[in-house]
Amino acid sequence: MKQLLFVILCVFALIIGLYPLIYVFVEHKNTFLGSKPPEVLQNQLWKTAFFAHIIFGGISLFIGWRQFGSQFRNKHLQVHRIIGKTYVASVLISSVSSIYMGMYANGGIISSVGFICLGWIWLTMTLAAVIQIRKGNVVKHQQLMIYSYACTFAAVTLRLWLPLLQILTQDPVNSYLAVAWLCWLPNLLVAYFINKKNQVIN
Ligand code: HEM
Repeated sequence: MKQLLFVILCVFALIIGLYPLIYVFVEHKNTFLGSKPPEVLQNQLWKTAFFAHIIFGGISLFIGWRQFGSQFRNKHLQVHRIIGKTYVASVLISSVSSIYMGMYANGGIISSVGFICLGWIWLTMTLAAVIQIRKGNVVKHQQLMIYSYACTFAAVTLRLWLPLLQILTQDPVNSYLAVAWLCWLPNLLVAYFINKKNQVIN
């Protein structure tokens, strides 16, 4: 069961990790960018943040899952370090961009605060995980990285919650407001229970 859930997580991470590629193939006005007001689209800083966010967010999601599972890690410690450094650098770039973009989120203050909180938690969990491994605290590093990837995985859960809520409520505006919180709060709760269970095993 645990393995099946992990495989499902990996499949979603790989698919949504590649999702930003649609910005290469689809005309921008037909993507999410079409929903942004002209003054945001003319803001060069916002545009730079947007592309930095989706490229490096995609990379962190695409590679992050590989870090979990002790078999691979113990066998290929050097690869774990390389992926780890790439993941952390990608999260730093994508999270800082997302905090800035959060100020311009569709839907106003409720979605803005949801995305900005997520961005800050993503950044701090990831940095705290780096600090812990530098101190040699492997268990704390692992726990914090589970929280970090739970945040990264919000990119997947957002794209599952949003159509579900839109179908159930027929209210796209309020669905978006709810999803700015629903995409990450339950993920962190799951991360908490995974860490708690691992503590019992350790
Ligand atoms: C985990 C922390 C994350 C935060 C706080 C965050 C925040 C945001 C924000 C604020 C927006 C703009 C929303 C708006 O203006 O209404 C956005 C859009 C977007 N984000 Fe993220 N994001 C996160 C993770 C990711 C990841 C890991 C990916 C990787 C695939 C990603 C890909 C995208 C894409 C592609 C868009 C454009 C919307 C779309 O095409 O559906 N995000 N994000």
